[in-house]
Amino acid sequence: MRLKITVLPGDGVGPEVTSEAVRVLRAVSDLNGYDFQFDEHPIGGEAIHRHGTPLPAATLEACLQSDAVLLGAVGTPAFDSLPREQKPEAGLLHLRRSLGCYANLRPAVAHDPLLENSPLKAEVVRGTDLLIVRELLGGIYFGEPRGLDPGRDAFNTMRYSAHEIERITHMAFQLARARRRKVTSVDKANVLETSQLWRDVVTRVAQEYPNVKLEHMYVDSCSMRLVTDPTHFDVVLTENLFGDILSDEAAVISGSLGMLASASVGGKVDLYEPVHGSAPDIAGRNLANPLGAIASAAMLLRHTAKLEEDAQDVEAAIARVLRDGYRTADLARGGTRFTVTTSEMGSLVENALADVTQQRHAYHAV
Ligand code: IPM
Ligand code: MG
Repeated sequence: MRLKITVLPGDGVGPEVTSEAVRVLRAVSDLNGYDFQFDEHPIGGEAIHRHGTPLPAATLEACLQSDAVLLGAVGTPAFDSLPREQKPEAGLLHLRRSLGCYANLRPAVAHDPLLENSPLKAEVVRGTDLLIVRELLGGIYFGEPRGLDPGRDAFNTMRYSAHEIERITHMAFQLARARRRKVTSVDKANVLETSQLWRDVVTRVAQEYPNVKLEHMYVDSCSMRLVTDPTHFDVVLTENLFGDILSDEAAVISGSLGMLASASVGGKVDLYEPVHGSAPDIAGRNLANPLGAIASAAMLLRHTAKLEEDAQDVEAAIARVLRDGYRTADLARGGTRFTVTTSEMGSLVENALADVTQQRHAYHAV
């Protein structure tokens, strides 16, 4: 198994967490005799500093030539006042669009050892295992026309074609088939035309999946249900902006935004990134939680490399470290026994992974 992975550490805590994710991927490669190659490039504020643009041509070219892209985070307050198309975030949006990955998968799972870490009651979150499927290349993020007349007036356009809705709906239903076979489609069809089209297309496509249950939910109601009754959900299918908001909200289920992983798939090259963002307030201090980045690496093994067993090994290693009581600062609440740094957490997962993988190999050998 050979994999060419382009690593884009980016801004803020991005470099710290991606180096732990790379450490774990190297361990997977060594333990199993694979050949994973890593090639690092700048994106976001880091790229603006070095090359004057948030997505240099060489970065994009490297991404397009690879099997998968592993990204840390983009965004730094230093560039907040730049016009929108020159901001670090524009680099990420341009990359997503150039890769063509229209489906953003964001799982939110309540890990038993972290139940006390969620601000929600343990009995509410226990057993939650949901997957947000966010449309990533359409809607108000990209809709034209858009414009700003500073201090006077501004506008954006929320726009969807039936084709864009169809392909993300197929993705959600295919994923639901391999899970608990339920899709909650989230929209605002009582107010927005884009949502009326969304609901019609989702309802039509759903007929091709008779074994998957479909329900529709308004986004305001969904935002409440996510934190009052999260076990209600299996696959949550929604458009770009609603998915951005709901996925941060869903993070409270896992105890911390630092736990959340994501995969952006469906295009030429898949893109993996933790959901948490650049967190400039704690950047460079070895404090950030690398588990979201490491769990994103597990998704890379699953979705791009089709190495399901290795993906499960990484997830089992994360679970073991949490069960043993190790927590980064963001999770240091409740039953914390050992507070660890970013790099200590990475190395704990690496050690646990060696154990888990050796046990699996020994099991296969008998
Ligand atoms: C996310 C982020 C991005 C988004 C930003 C950084 C452009 O919030 O991945 O959720 O809005 O998609
Ligand atoms: Mg977001």
